[in-house]
Amino acid sequence: MTSPSETIWPIEPHTLIKHRILDRYLQGWLPVMAKTNGRIHFLDGFAGPGRYSGGEIGSPLIALQALLSHPHFAKANNQREVVFSFFERDKSRADALREELKRVSLPSWVSCNVFDGEFAPLLSSILDKFQAEGSQLAPTFAFIDPFGFAGVPMDLIARIASNAKCECFITFMYEEINRFLSVPDVADHYDALFGTSKWREIVGETDSGRRRDRIADLYRKQLETVAGFKYVREFQMVNRGNRTKYFLYFGTKSEKGLSLMKAAMWKADPGGGEIFSDRTNENQVVLFEPSPDFARLRSMLTQRFRGQGPIDISDIEKYVLVETPFSETMHLRKRTLGQMEKSGPRLIEVYRPKGKANRAGSYPPATKIKFV
Ligand SMILES: C[S@@+](CC[C@H](N)C(=O)[O-])C[C@H]1O[C@@H](n2cnc3c(N)ncnc32)[C@H](O)[C@@H]1O
Repeated sequence: MTSPSETIWPIEPHTLIKHRILDRYLQGWLPVMAKTNGRIHFLDGFAGPGRYSGGEIGSPLIALQALLSHPHFAKANNQREVVFSFFERDKSRADALREELKRVSLPSWVSCNVFDGEFAPLLSSILDKFQAEGSQLAPTFAFIDPFGFAGVPMDLIARIASNAKCECFITFMYEEINRFLSVPDVADHYDALFGTSKWREIVGETDSGRRRDRIADLYRKQLETVAGFKYVREFQMVNRGNRTKYFLYFGTKSEKGLSLMKAAMWKADPGGGEIFSDRTNENQVVLFEPSPDFARLRSMLTQRFRGQGPIDISDIEKYVLVETPFSETMHLRKRTLGQMEKSGPRLIEVYRPKGKANRAGSYPPATKIKFV
């Protein structure tokens, strides 16, 4: 979208889905992180005013609500500290956000800071200070949600990622990025965005599909190699006009984080004619639909494991989590392995540990499965 000039603006349908994903992810991430860390941190690099003109709440309030409405944190004796940092360049939006935050009653263990100004220089100076003191960012979920391509340098993403248990969820505004790719005036922004000048090799690509794939693949590769995220997933949002609107990138070093994000994606049905898909591996693009394509997962499993001895259920889960677009918590057991076990001709042989119920759909730890 072209960036609005008003302090608050109408929400777009594709923003609503991003918000659903953010909310669902934080509902899972906050309690998991709070269990093992005394202090956790939600960072919103492009926070906005906190509310849209139709009254819908923006990402800062979504994140706060995910915390304050969560049963895990409802106990009065909560011992964790949860810090929210909101960065907003536009003064009137930052002030509007402060007004919104005043209306939220915050318990003593929650603090919110609104930083007026540009995300990249502000966060860089905070990280410089930490570095000088020999300290680290607390485990952080960084939501980086710009309107366009400026102000999100790859070297800053890499600095965030270099801190333990820090992950990034990034809106990559493909339409804008693609539109201005050949404009010489903004080349510096692109060098910073990608952390390389290799995007210049794509400028002459005239096939729109190939161009999109090359841009998206380059950004994903940079998140893996320059930022150093062990797991990067790439989600594509296609609008009603069948145009790729944006990509969401999630970078993490944690399998648990990856698992929570995939479940959040699958639960956030875009509806309204918009299409949302996982295209991390372009040979496996899978749409997030209310009825997932279980036949596809069955065939992926068979191709991957057929001809091998019995495979431990934990290795099968890891494969689904790391190498497929499906969710190992939502899709694997009942609707995939369960169906394969019940079907005739038999597609799998199941070896459950002694004393465990022999029931299709139930695969307790140490179960082994042979794909026939
Ligand atoms: C897409 S909107 C954010 C929406 C918000 N994250 C949400 O989901 O409700 C982007 C916001 O970033 C602000 N912005 C633009 N450039 C910025 C920069 N370099 N640093 C911080 N904020 C910036 C804009 O004023 C705008 O409010």
